[in-house]
Amino acid sequence: MSSELQPDTESGTRWTPLVPLADLPTDGEGRTVELNGFRLAVFHLDGEVRVVDDECPHAGASLGAGICVSGEVTCPWHGWHFRLSDGENTDGLPERVAVYAARVSAEGIVEAVLG
Ligand code: FES
Repeated sequence: MSSELQPDTESGTRWTPLVPLADLPTDGEGRTVELNGFRLAVFHLDGEVRVVDDECPHAGASLGAGICVSGEVTCPWHGWHFRLSDGENTDGLPERVAVYAARVSAEGIVEAVLG
């Protein structure tokens, strides 16, 4: 990891760099990032970045391989839907995915608060 990719602890919040914003598609596709024991799904849509747990709570598919439309990702295996803003299943099921605070650094790196 280069020095520019070190977590920022100045504000007391530990922001962990995940991926350059330029590497993320803007058409609804996501990316899966594995880091520090986390497997995360990262999306860039409508000028916002969203970071959620990558593992679908149904049977473990990668949500980063899903497609996001109108703020909801569709699981690629069986079609469950999760709202990226709060992780809720929008099919009315109690399962949800963890959502992580995310931002883009001045250097254009997507960062998240993990753990
Ligand atoms: S694994 Fe995601 S809906 Fe089945």
